[in-house]
Parts: sequence; structure tokens; C-alpha cells
Amino acid sequence: MDVGCGRDLNFFKAILKRFPRVGALVGIDKDPSVSQTAHVKNKRIWCYVANIVKRETLTVFEGMMDKVISTNTVNKIPKKKLMFENVYRLLRPGGEAAFFFILDSCYHTFLMALLKIPKFKEIFKGRHNPNMYPKHRREQYYKKMLEEVGFHYVISLEEEKIYPHPSEEDWKDELYEGYKNMFEVSPESVDEIKEEAFQIYVKTIGRYEGEPYYRVLLLSLFGQKEV
Ligand SMILES: C[S@@+](CC[C@H](N)C(=O)[O-])C[C@H]1O[C@@H](n2cnc3c(N)ncnc32)[C@H](O)[C@@H]1O
Repeated sequence: MDVGCGRDLNFFKAILKRFPRVGALVGIDKDPSVSQTAHVKNKRIWCYVANIVKRETLTVFEGMMDKVISTNTVNKIPKKKLMFENVYRLLRPGGEAAFFFILDSCYHTFLMALLKIPKFKEIFKGRHNPNMYPKHRREQYYKKMLEEVGFHYVISLEEEKIYPHPSEEDWKDELYEGYKNMFEVSPESVDEIKEEAFQIYVKTIGRYEGEPYYRVLLLSLFGQKEV
């Protein structure tokens, strides 16, 4: 099962390639449009609407899963322990779970810096949780959480990834594309906002070997349910 599978079903494509004899793949996502639009071309793939923090939407799958994975979704869920508890319930005895998610991102730091500037704060129309990536919630914090839930043989791996961007102009455009829906930007101020946002980004995040860059801290977590 893939929790928060999203439309592209990338995980299932990878699993089918690597394990062509896999029995069945179940994708769940809380967004109903995912199961409506997900491109399911294989009869062993099933997509359902379910919310991993609402147990009543999951009962049909409880105790059924050999493996559960979730990528890029844990960081979207405020009630993480509840999510892990529900994943634990989905597993059969001896079943395994793996999670991959963001622990911190320089985009968060950048947005916090932008919102300290009155000009940007005034035109902000998005939603943002300033406490999204608390500094004390790192590898050991989540490892302990999984153990408290009941998982055995918990393994965790924290890694920082750095992606330098060779073209400043492309980076300005990408930053703008990533954030434009969060701000009310009039057409005549696009260039000015783009330039200012880029300058704030570089001032806040810095450069890597002379180039602007994206930095993200990622966690892989693995655990097994008792046999
Ligand atoms: C960033 S996407 C990741 C998609 C895919 N796993 C990937 O790595 O490409 C996060 C997905 O998690 C889903 N999601 C968020 N909260 C969820 C919840 N509580 N229960 C189930 N799905 C959830 C979203 O609807 C979205 O499709």
C-alpha cells in the first residue's frame, strides 16, 4: 500500500518494474480526484479515497498489508503519531512499513524571511505554518515515535541534499512560479517582485560554491510489526 499515493503512481510503476510478480498494489489518498484521475493501467493496482488519520476510512484494510510505504506525505500531516499508529494497524503481523519525508527545507526558511517583510506580508494570501519543521523533530525524534507506536527493528536515515542552480535567471523564474499563487502580485510588479524575492532568497539561504541552491533535509524510516 502507498499512503498518499498521488496521481502519478510513481511508486507503483517502480514496484511493478522491480517486482513483476507482486500480488496487488493499493493506493490511498484523501483527495478524491486522485482515484478519479490516477492512470491505472494495471489490473493489480487499486486506488481508494481514504484518510490516514481517520481510522474509520481504513478499517477495510486493517491487518491486510504486507508492506506499507509513504513518500512525501508524512510532512503534510500534522498528526504524525496518529498516522504511524494507523499504518501499524494496516499491517499484518510481520509486515513492514517505510516512510520518506522532508524534515526541513530551505523553502520554509525563505518563506518565513519573506513574510517578515511588510511588503510581502501584505500581499500574502496563502496559508503557512511557521512551526512546520521544528528543530527538535529530527531522526531520533521520529525513530522513538515509531518505537512507541510498537514498531520493531526501527531504522532511520537522515540526509541533507543540496541542489545548486547554475542559472540565476532560471532560478528567479522557478522561485516565482513556486510562490506566485501564495501572493497577490499585480501584472506590472511581477519583474520587481521576482527580483526582490530572489535577492531575499540568496541573502537568507546563501550560495553553494557561488551558485544559488536548494537545500532539503530528508528522513527515511523503516519499521516492522511484531510477528
Ligand atoms: C506531495 S504528494 C506526494 C505524492 C506521492 N506519494 C509522491 O511521492 O510523489 C502528497 C499526497 O498525500 C496526500 N495526502 C495528504 N494528507 C493525506 C492524508 N491525511 N491521508 C491520505 N492522503 C493524504 C495528498 O492528497 C497528496 O496526494
